[in-house]
Amino acid sequence: CSFLKEKTRKEVLEVLCQGLARQEYRGYDSAGLGIDGDKPGEVVFFKEVGKVAGLRKQIASSPIDVNKVFVSQVSIAHTRWATHGVPSTANCHPLRSDPTAEFCVVHNGIVTNSAALRLVLQKRGYTFESETDTEAVAKLLKYVYDSQADKKNLTFTDLVKAVLKELEGSFAFVFKSTHFPNEVVTARRGSPLLIGVKTDKKLKVDFVDVEFAGQDNSREVKADTLHPTSPSALLAPPSANPKVLRTQSRAFMSEDGLPQPIEFFVASDASAVVEHTKRVLYLEDDDIAHIADGELHIHRLRRKDDRDQSPAQIASTRTIETLEIEIAAIMKGKFQHFMQKEIYEQPESVVNTMRGRVNFDTNQITLGGLRAYLPIMRRGRRIVFIACGTSYHSCIATRAIFEELTEIPVSVELASDFLDRKTPIFRDDVCVFLSQSGETADTILALRYCLERGALCVGVVNTVGSTISRETHCGVHINAGPEIGVASTKAYTSQYIALLMMAIQLSEDRISLTERRNQIIAGLHSMPAQIKKVLELDSVIQQFAQSVADYKSLLLMGRGFQYATCLEGALKIKEISYMHSEGILAGELKHGPLALIDENMPVIIIMTQDSLYPKVQSAFAQITARKAQPIVLCNEGDDGIPANAKTIRVPKTVDCLQGMLNIIPLQLLSYHLAVNKGYDVDFPRNLAKSVTTE
Ligand code: G6P
Repeated sequence: CSFLKEKTRKEVLEVLCQGLARQEYRGYDSAGLGIDGDKPGEVVFFKEVGKVAGLRKQIASSPIDVNKVFVSQVSIAHTRWATHGVPSTANCHPLRSDPTAEFCVVHNGIVTNSAALRLVLQKRGYTFESETDTEAVAKLLKYVYDSQADKKNLTFTDLVKAVLKELEGSFAFVFKSTHFPNEVVTARRGSPLLIGVKTDKKLKVDFVDVEFAGQDNSREVKADTLHPTSPSALLAPPSANPKVLRTQSRAFMSEDGLPQPIEFFVASDASAVVEHTKRVLYLEDDDIAHIADGELHIHRLRRKDDRDQSPAQIASTRTIETLEIEIAAIMKGKFQHFMQKEIYEQPESVVNTMRGRVNFDTNQITLGGLRAYLPIMRRGRRIVFIACGTSYHSCIATRAIFEELTEIPVSVELASDFLDRKTPIFRDDVCVFLSQSGETADTILALRYCLERGALCVGVVNTVGSTISRETHCGVHINAGPEIGVASTKAYTSQYIALLMMAIQLSEDRISLTERRNQIIAGLHSMPAQIKKVLELDSVIQQFAQSVADYKSLLLMGRGFQYATCLEGALKIKEISYMHSEGILAGELKHGPLALIDENMPVIIIMTQDSLYPKVQSAFAQITARKAQPIVLCNEGDDGIPANAKTIRVPKTVDCLQGMLNIIPLQLLSYHLAVNKGYDVDFPRNLAKSVTTE
């Protein structure tokens, strides 16, 4: 954060720690911050392994003068999810260029050529304190700074520009420097970044112009040319006279035209800033923002691969948007954990997904964000769903109904594998990108891959303003509200509904399918009340959780529409209770998994009534014949289930919607398993909510 406003150090620390706590779902291996010291140019660091609470404790026990007042200051903070280097204080951000911290930086992402940079810098006498990729960036800044003859005319932005051109990979950075006190530079490529703006008076402007650093100025230096023995490859000073394509920049002034006290909050997402301000500006890839003296200037680094767009094609302003998110919506309320709250929110979140889109009187569905693209989608020769994790499972769950209604072949791809295979994609393909966060690195890369190949790219995301929602041609926001728990729950059911709505709308010109569509829409109407009924099973499920808690493994079995439920249920169990769990397609049972079955293997079998019910009954018979005592997830009133079987009974709905009701007991089961074991439900070890690195 950067304040041009009187604040005590205590207030600043509070803003940082609270902001970090809100971003903790992005990573919580360690937390650190760097603030202005007592002497000019001094930076004081606090770093702690583990969560932000530990960092707070460390600050509380330090002798630092928390009542010191600053008129203007810049401070940076970070919560880490380790990619390079173990979670440790040394690897914790901010990372510095040298012991006096001439430059320090916090970073989200991965600098993929950091090893080469590190080598170059080591050869030039730099000693590294951490194993991170980020430290090379701080040191590179110092190196470039030291090698400039004319330091007087050197700006912090120019310096950062020169360094960014050397970097490969993805990043969101915030830089602070003792050479540029009270200035902050922040930049992104591939990782999300936004700036919150807070003033006491009304802002006169609601956008910021972008200044382009011309292509002539962009020297592409590859890591291998930065070889220590090749001095010619050393970083050249930034050109004093870049070809500036647009020069206007916008400073913030109040309506009376005077500069005013102003606060800027730079963060990876809005949850960290929303309690201070709702006015935010999302940066684009290759934007470099400079904040100083109460002014915000945005520059754009143009690269060769700027997708051959002319400056006119690249937006030349960044809008200051007003967020609608309420802080109460991201707080736990009466619940013990965010995950629990989010499971319980599903009766409302599914309504929010349908709100204004489903007309239950006329049986019509209108997705405004897709309307103009429906003819192209219908003409597509295939639909490719691309996603990761839970979002991927929502694609599997709806694939069959999509194919049934649209009669277009649908394939479902895990984003990483899709990229690994360099999957052929054509102009007449429709690629649908599912992502709760809209920031998952693999999904974004897959999106860019498909954009380059000319496919129509459709986004289905929860987070408004996220990279995927901005970079796709069209799409649907699932409107499930902020999801904080790492294990995704309400986003799954909302994605499920969003995809169903999309399939129904795509098929609206098929008269023969009217009855089927009407049946599904009627099912959607009853869905919120039915979800509420399933949630009433909570205490029954808590008991089942106790009964399976001591086993090493838990198998979930089903077929057809319920295969996705098994995969998603198993993922939930793995993620937060660290118990091995596998979703098994019941049709595959005899091709391997049956070998796992005996009286000591707990199994949940999904036997809700659809056309495949008889086949699941035979799977049930096969496993009980091998002494399994499965818990049966079945419909209320189903008397075909053996009387002595342990059952979880859920209301019956249309076959293609049943998965939404069936997943809820499994979400609750995983939740109770984790709570029983004393695990940190919202922050499972080694995982992050939003995986913004490859
Ligand atoms: C991470 C999260 C999962 C999520 C997946 C995809 O692995 O822990 O909960 O399903 O990323 O995230 P997305 O935001 O793209 O849906």
